[in-house]
Amino acid sequence: MSTMAQVIHRLGPPDVMEWREWPVPDPGPGEVRLRHTAIGVNFADTYHRGGVPHPWPVPEPPVVIGFEGVGIVEEVGDGVRDFLTGDRVAYGIPPLGSYAEARNYPASSLLHLPEGLDDRVVAALLMKGMTAQYLLHRTYAVQPGDTVLVHAAAGGMGLILCQWARALGATVVGTVSTAEKAEAARAAGCDHPVVRSERDFVSVVRDVTDGEGCAVVYEAIGRDTLQRSLDALRPMGVCAAYGHVSGPPDPVDIITDLGRRGSLFITRPAIMHYVARREDLERTARSLFEAIGSGILDANLNYEYPLRDAVRAHAAIESGATLGATVLIP
Ligand SMILES: NC(=O)c1ccc[n+]([C@@H]2O[C@H](COP(=O)([O-])OP(=O)(O)OC[C@H]3O[C@@H](n4cnc5c(N)ncnc54)[C@H](OP(=O)(O)O)[C@@H]3O)[C@@H](O)[C@H]2O)c1
Repeated sequence: MSTMAQVIHRLGPPDVMEWREWPVPDPGPGEVRLRHTAIGVNFADTYHRGGVPHPWPVPEPPVVIGFEGVGIVEEVGDGVRDFLTGDRVAYGIPPLGSYAEARNYPASSLLHLPEGLDDRVVAALLMKGMTAQYLLHRTYAVQPGDTVLVHAAAGGMGLILCQWARALGATVVGTVSTAEKAEAARAAGCDHPVVRSERDFVSVVRDVTDGEGCAVVYEAIGRDTLQRSLDALRPMGVCAAYGHVSGPPDPVDIITDLGRRGSLFITRPAIMHYVARREDLERTARSLFEAIGSGILDANLNYEYPLRDAVRAHAAIESGATLGATVLIP
C-alpha cells in the first residue's frame, strides 16, 4: 500500500519536505503497521532534515523523517506477540518515518498507550518527557533542595524539566530569551527565570546558592552558553549537555575546563542509549505516563499543524520563537 507523507529527496531547509505518496510495504517480521493519530515534532527533526551532525546518523534521502508518534495498530508482522490490531500505541525513538499518515515500526520499541491519556498530549510529550525522565533521575538524580539550571526553560524540553524538577523538590533557575518566555517558565515551576540578554545567569545561580553553584545544568543551547554553564556549577557538579540549538559547543578541556573549576562532570547524554534496553524503555515510559496522569506534567501543547503543513512547523521551531510543544495531525 502507499500513504501520504512528507518526503525529502535532498536534505536542506524546511521546504525540502514535499507532501507526496510514499510506499508502505506489508509489515516485516517483528514490525507492526500503524496509522498515526498524532505526530510529535522535535528539534532533532530539523537536524535530520538539514543533514546537521547529531548523535544519530544523517539520513540518506529519499527519506521520511520524524521519530515520535501515536496511533492505532492496523496490521502485525510475523513474530509480534505483544501487540494486536486495534491497539493504541506510541513511540518516541527511531527508526525515522513518523511524518506520514501510516508507517511500519518495530514492536520492540513500541509502547502501549495507557487508558485515559490523550493521543496529542502523548505525541507532544513522549520523547521529550522520556528525555526529561532520564536526565532528572539517571544522568543526575535530582534531590530535594538541589538547585538546578535549565537553559531554554520555555522550550519544549525546558518546560518539562522545570515542572518535573520542581516536583522533585529542586529550586529551578531557568534561562530564556524574552520576558514572555520568562513568564511561561515561571508558570511551569521555574523559581528564577533569567532573560539571558539582561542578566548573567551565573550570578543568579551564585546568588541563589549562596555562592556554591548549582548541582546540575541541563544544557541544550551549546555554543552560546556551555562555557558559562560550567562556571555556574558547584564542585563535582554535572553538566548534562543534551542539546546544542545554537550550534556545537567548542571542545572542552578536561584539565582547565573541568578539573580547575572543581572536578566537574560533563556528559553528552542521548535518549537512544538510555532506553536501548526494553526494560529501560518501559520503566522510563511508565514513569512519564504516571507523571502525566498525576498532573505533574502539562504538555504545553501550543502548536498543532496539519501534517501536510510540516514545513511551517519546522520554520517556526528553527526561528527559536516557539513556546512549548508542537504536534502534527494527519
Ligand atoms: N539528548 C537527548 O536525548 C535529547 C532529547 C530531546 C531533545 N534534545 C535536544 O534538546 C534541544 C531542545 O529541544 P526542544 O525540543 O526543547 O526544542 P525547542 O522547543 O525548539 O526549544 C529550543 C529553545 O532553544 C532556545 N534557543 C536558543 N538559541 C537558539 C537558536 N539559535 N535556535 C533555536 N532555538 C534557540 C529557544 O529558547 P529561548 O528563546 O528562550 O532561548 C528555543 O525555544 C535540542 O537540541 C534537541 O535536539 C536532546
